[in-house]
Amino acid sequence: MSNALKVLLACTLLAGGCAQSVQSPQSLYAELGGQAGIDRIVDGLLWEIAEDAEIRALFADTDIQRFRNKLAEQLCAVSDGPCVYTGDSMRETHRHLAVTSAQFNRLVDDLIRVMERERIATGAQNALLQRLAAMRGDIVAE
Ligand code: HEM
Repeated sequence: MSNALKVLLACTLLAGGCAQSVQSPQSLYAELGGQAGIDRIVDGLLWEIAEDAEIRALFADTDIQRFRNKLAEQLCAVSDGPCVYTGDSMRETHRHLAVTSAQFNRLVDDLIRVMERERIATGAQNALLQRLAAMRGDIVAE
C-alpha cells in the first residue's frame, strides 16, 4: 500500500483528525488573510496609532499613505506573500525616531489587539510576531 493511501486510510479511521497531513500547510500570508487581510491589519494598526498620543507624536511628519503602503508591502513579504519590500531599511527609517523598548512593546500590543479583532489564529499571530521581533534591534534605539 502506498504511503499516501495509508495516510488517507488512517485519517478516515480517525474520523477527520488529521487534515493537516493530507493538505499542504498554508503559508503565513494565507493565514493572515492574503493581501486583503494584511490591509485590514495595517488599517487597524493605523487606528491604534491614532488613538495613542505618545506613539502618534512620532508620526507627526510622516506621509501616512506611504507608511500604509510600505508596511502592507513589508508584512506581505515577511509572511512569504508575493511581494517585494521596496521601502527604506528598518535601521534607516527608525534611526532618527529614538524608539524606546516600551514604545516597541506598545506597538506590538496594538498589533496583537488588531489581529485578535481580525480573528487571526494564535499560531499565525505568533509566527508573525516572531518574524517582526527579528527586526527589533534595527528599530529600537537603546
Ligand atoms: C517590527 C516593528 C515595526 C515594523 C515592521 C515597522 C515598519 C515600518 C515601515 C515599513 C515603515 C515605512 C518605511 C518607508 O517609508 O520606507 C516605517 C516607518 C515608520 N515607523 Fe515603523 N516599524 C516597526 C516599529 C515601529 C515602532 C515601534 C515605532 C514607534 C513607536 C515606529 C514608528 C515609525 C514611524 C514614525 C515611521 C515613519 C518614519 C518617517 O516618516 O520617516 N515603527 N515602519
